[in-house]
Amino acid sequence: MDIKKEFEQTLVLIKPDALKNSLTGYVLSLLSEFHTGLRFAGAKIVYVGRMLAEEHYAEHQGKIFFPSLLEYIMGKLHYPDEPWKRRVIALVYQGTDAVKKIRDICGPTNPLVARDKNPGCIRALGTLVALKDSDGNIIGERMDNLIHASATNEDAEREIKLWFTPTDIPPFMRAYPVETNHLHYFFKDGNLYLKHEPESICLLSPGDIAWKTDIDALRAIERGPQSASSLGSVAAKYLINREKEVG
Ligand code: GTP
Ligand code: MG
Repeated sequence: MDIKKEFEQTLVLIKPDALKNSLTGYVLSLLSEFHTGLRFAGAKIVYVGRMLAEEHYAEHQGKIFFPSLLEYIMGKLHYPDEPWKRRVIALVYQGTDAVKKIRDICGPTNPLVARDKNPGCIRALGTLVALKDSDGNIIGERMDNLIHASATNEDAEREIKLWFTPTDIPPFMRAYPVETNHLHYFFKDGNLYLKHEPESICLLSPGDIAWKTDIDALRAIERGPQSASSLGSVAAKYLINREKEVG
């Protein structure tokens, strides 16, 4: 058995449209160990704030559909008047060929293509929604495709570290190096502090276990000019489900 392959991981998000349509059980069945040979390594219900949404979809920044993509993953489009229902289910699956196996069951990004090319895949149950400007002209489309799955092993590592802290994952199942932190790190208004600031949030305390790459990033931010984007990618998971973010 190739131990390294056995530890391959991928991030799955069950998106707000899947929750609204009560498809969670169906999706979990298709992804179950019986069908895929993969195991759960992590699971959480997440109220998605703007920082997390922007970090997750950073590669799409600047595209015409980016604003609606953020609103979609934040649950605002499917629950405009019921913020308490806005959430996604974030899952880490582990096992041989985890990335490819799950992408195959999800199917093509566009639900119409999914129906055409791969009937029976999860995204074949999705929908396309017209995007209009303030005058009502159609300027594009939104793809409500029910599920996210990491596209490559590199994406999986970035995304799992974005959504999960090491202690969200059982110690024998962690696929990426961790380190014990020795400093206090506080976060407020997009900035990092080593000492407590009024109304700041403590990201890490001495003795906490963190992803090694996060500790490296925090040290670099602390030394050099602050890089808002890299700080966001470290901080977002520590802010998950902390506060109500409305609007
Ligand atoms: P994810 O698993 O959600 O990341 O989908 P993907 O990897 O199949 O596609 P990609 O990462 O390229 O896009 C992320 C999300 O942006 C998709 O799930 C779609 O909701 C949306 N998206 C991607 N490309 C387009 C596009 O050309 N038009 C529109 N309207 N939405 C898109
Ligand atoms: Mg993608």
